[in-house]
Amino acid sequence: MIDEIERIGLEARGRIAAAATLDALRAVESEVLGKKAPLTLLRRRLGALDPEERRRAGQVLNETRDALVATLAAHRAELEAAARRARLEAERLDLTETLQTRSRGHLHLVTQTTDHLQDLFVGMGFTVAEGPEIESDWHNFEALNIPADHPARGMWDTLYVDVGEPETVLLRTHTSPVQIRVMTTQPPPIYAVMPGRVYRRDTADASHMPVFHQIEGLAVDRGISFADLAGTLEAFTTAFFGGAIHSRLRPSYFPFTEPSAEYDINCLLCEGGGCRTCGQTGWLELGGCGMVHPEVLGNCGLDPEEWSGFAFGFGIDRLALMKHGIDDIRELFTNDVRFLEQF
Ligand code: FA5
Repeated sequence: MIDEIERIGLEARGRIAAAATLDALRAVESEVLGKKAPLTLLRRRLGALDPEERRRAGQVLNETRDALVATLAAHRAELEAAARRARLEAERLDLTETLQTRSRGHLHLVTQTTDHLQDLFVGMGFTVAEGPEIESDWHNFEALNIPADHPARGMWDTLYVDVGEPETVLLRTHTSPVQIRVMTTQPPPIYAVMPGRVYRRDTADASHMPVFHQIEGLAVDRGISFADLAGTLEAFTTAFFGGAIHSRLRPSYFPFTEPSAEYDINCLLCEGGGCRTCGQTGWLELGGCGMVHPEVLGNCGLDPEEWSGFAFGFGIDRLALMKHGIDDIRELFTNDVRFLEQF
């Protein structure tokens, strides 16, 4: 009988191994361990054996049955793992197609230009500061040596915000109020640039927008001279545009700098010949600059006998136009992707 048990066990193991699916394995399980399985039928015949042979045959039969249960469990685990792998494979999403067909966005040209400018000035030892777009009249005008009745207020067509008393509030017309915020909160020496959005009641044309961007620069230290300003602007121009560009400082007037100058570069679009972007002059004004007025230093609690400084304020949008040969500032803000995706 023991031989027969072993033969049945061998054959059952072969059938278990041959089951290729979980359903087939369930069928084999009932065939080899169920009520009508050869092993179950053999057990009924044990009673007819003499005691010693019954004991040995019973032991072999139990061992064979336990081995079959273990073999079944192991094979079931293998088949379940394979089924799980197949299911995961079928559910896998192929995202490569999505990536290929949808183009990725990128930073707007004005943001890229702002980042580039910041990097250049940080490389020259400046830090970056920011101020609010909604400003007090004091920061935007008064502290900058432009009292309420000063004719220079006419240089900036201002948009006011009606929040009632106690103070006049406006959309900042330039980034110069951030100079005041820096000088009233940080002790010198100060070397800072301040980029941001500014607002004016200007009519949009090829070189003007009512909302545009400026970057302010401020250096306050002992013994700062106009030569430091000129040298800084020269180094900046070469770093931003490359060596071939010509720039000039043209005497000008700002109430918060003395002396004051305009910083122009030769128009890269017409190469100096004259076009609508440069107003037919061959030069494009990129910003104003000068030595910080002693009155402004005093308004910020700094002693003009001890400290001196230079400041400048450039139009970021115009810098972007010149760098990329764009002839109309409005292109930057019409949000035509065919234009924007070129940069
Ligand atoms: C100023 O705003 C002064 N705050 C600059 C300054 C700072 C002078 C520090 C001295 C010391 P201005 O109004 O000229 O100056 O404007 C500076 C630059 O902003 C201009 O040269 C131009 O590049 C840009 N800009 C002015 N108005 C517009 C506009 N409507 N659209 C686009 N860019 C403009």
